[in-house]
Amino acid sequence: MLKNITVLPGDGIGPEVTDQAVKVLEAIAERFGHEFKFTCGLIGAAAIDKTGDPFPEETLELCQSSDAILLGAIGDPKYDKDPNASIRPEQGLLRMRKSLGLYANVRPIKIYDKLAGLSVVKPEILENVDFVIYRELTGGIYFGKKQKEADFSSDECLYFRSEVERITKLAFAEAARRDKKLCLVDKANVLESSRLWRDVVMDYAKLYHDVEVEYLYIDNAAMQMILNPSRFDVVLCSNMFGDILSDEASVLVGSLGLLASSSRGDEYSLYEPVHGSYPEAAGKDIANPLATIMSAEMMLRDAEMEKEADCINRAIEFCMEKSIMTEDLNPDIHYSCSQMGDIIQALILDGPESLKIRSIREANSTIL
Ligand code: IPM
Ligand code: MN
Repeated sequence: MLKNITVLPGDGIGPEVTDQAVKVLEAIAERFGHEFKFTCGLIGAAAIDKTGDPFPEETLELCQSSDAILLGAIGDPKYDKDPNASIRPEQGLLRMRKSLGLYANVRPIKIYDKLAGLSVVKPEILENVDFVIYRELTGGIYFGKKQKEADFSSDECLYFRSEVERITKLAFAEAARRDKKLCLVDKANVLESSRLWRDVVMDYAKLYHDVEVEYLYIDNAAMQMILNPSRFDVVLCSNMFGDILSDEASVLVGSLGLLASSSRGDEYSLYEPVHGSYPEAAGKDIANPLATIMSAEMMLRDAEMEKEADCINRAIEFCMEKSIMTEDLNPDIHYSCSQMGDIIQALILDGPESLKIRSIREANSTIL
């Protein structure tokens, strides 16, 4: 049951976008008679500033005692200038993933017809694009043994069969629910670790006769994602390849501001937008909160609250349809980050009719 939700606003625009998602979840609680309790914790640069640690013990305990975690964004330019800095906000993110066992990062890629023009990719290529990336999140080159000396350095890419199996299992189950296609992206012509991934996926393919399995090398997959993205359904990849491919896939959608994600483990799950902390926009109320609101929708779906998730989805679709968007998506008539949250909240609680009434009351003539 979904009850205790830990909110980790993080850095930059993180607090603004999580505020909107909380507003939306509160509206869902009110409409459907649920009780959600939100507790905030520190992570990233905000946590370093206050405690000296990007993922304090207190935050870990808070996450472990909750039913789901909502994360804003992590990163601050003051740390980006020095890649050798010993304490960095991103360490908080990696430590959190590892310590909570969040091994499967799920990033859905869906094109909104109304926004197809935003992408640099031609609209005809974007027709019927709807796939999901399953990225392994707690292993591989991100977490292998690291060494840096004056005259050499190395990052080990280690994968245990069990680590590959647990995400492969989830990815096949997802493919079976969706269009029954799974593509493993690897570099099995060069890397031993990729050959292990192939072995595992081939074994699972025997169990899922109705799922069509294909294997693409990462270099080819990167090209196919732009040339022919509608061929993909479930894309399975290791940590680093998934990181790269998911940013590439955001180009299809037209904005990183529309990409939601979940990170699941056997015990805990976390929901966060794919975008970063966008420090230039922090505090200006211009950030796009949709990716975070969509992540909250994923949270509800994972908690088997389908009706509630559909309700958020309808409100978002309505906003897209009526061009109610932030300035990254609609530079002509744009809404602020907090207005988007207010509008989606009103749509959930009172339906589209309420917007006209509210717009008069709030003298906001740009709504509808
Ligand atoms: C992501 C980010 C992180 C990653 C960084 C901030 C460490 O790019 O979540 O995709 O590489 O995993
Ligand atoms: Mn990334």
